[in-house]
Amino acid sequence: MRDMRIGLIAAAIVLFGLVSCAAYAAQEPGPGKFILDSKLTSMKKAGVGPVVFPHDQHKKKFKCGVCHPGIFKDQAKANDISMKKNMDGQFCGSANCHNSPNAFPLFQCANCHTNVKGASK
Ligand code: HEC
Ligand code: HEC
Repeated sequence: MRDMRIGLIAAAIVLFGLVSCAAYAAQEPGPGKFILDSKLTSMKKAGVGPVVFPHDQHKKKFKCGVCHPGIFKDQAKANDISMKKNMDGQFCGSANCHNSPNAFPLFQCANCHTNVKGASK
C-alpha cells in the first residue's frame, strides 16, 4: 500500500515535469496560449506589446471548424493579421466575434495585447 502511494507521487512528479517542459519548449506563456508578435514594429509605434491568444479557451467554447480554415489557417504564424483587417470584419473581428456583442470589443486593447501603454491591466 505504501509502495503504491510512493509510486503515485513519483508518477505525478514526472507528469508535472513533462507538462512544464512541453510548455517551455513551445515558448508559450502557458499551455494552450500562443504569442502573436509578427507585427512588432508597428505594435511598438502604437504603444502595445505582443498578443497572447488563448487557443485553449477558444477551443473549449467553439468547434475547430468555426475558425479553421475559414478565418484562421491552422498553422502557427501563417496568418497576416492587422488591426485594420480585424476592424474590417476579418480574423478576430469576424462576425459574432470581437466586433459583436458576443465578445469584448476591439477597443479593449489590453485584453489581447501585453504591455499596453497607459493601461492598468
Ligand atoms: C476562435 C478561433 C479558433 C478555434 C475555435 C480553434 N483555433 Fe486553432 N488557431 C487559432 C488561431 C488564431 C491560431 C494561431 C494561428 C497563427 O499563429 O497565425 C490557431 C492555431 C492552430 C494550430 C497551429 C498552431 C500549433 O499548435 O501548431 C493548430 C494545429 C490548430 N490551431 C488546431 C485547432 C484545433 C484542432 C481546434 C479545435 C479543437 C482549433 N484549432 C480551434 C484559432 C482557433
Ligand atoms: C481581440 C484581440 C485584439 C484587440 C482587442 C486588439 N488587438 Fe491589436 N492585434 C491583435 C492581433 C491578433 C494582432 C496581430 C498580431 C500579429 O500577428 O503579430 C494585432 C495587431 C496589432 C498591431 C500591429 C498590426 C497593425 O495593425 O498595425 C497594432 C499596432 C495593434 N494591434 C494595436 C491595437 C490597439 C491600439 C488596440 C486597441 C485599440 C488593439 N490592437 C486591440 C488582436 C487584438
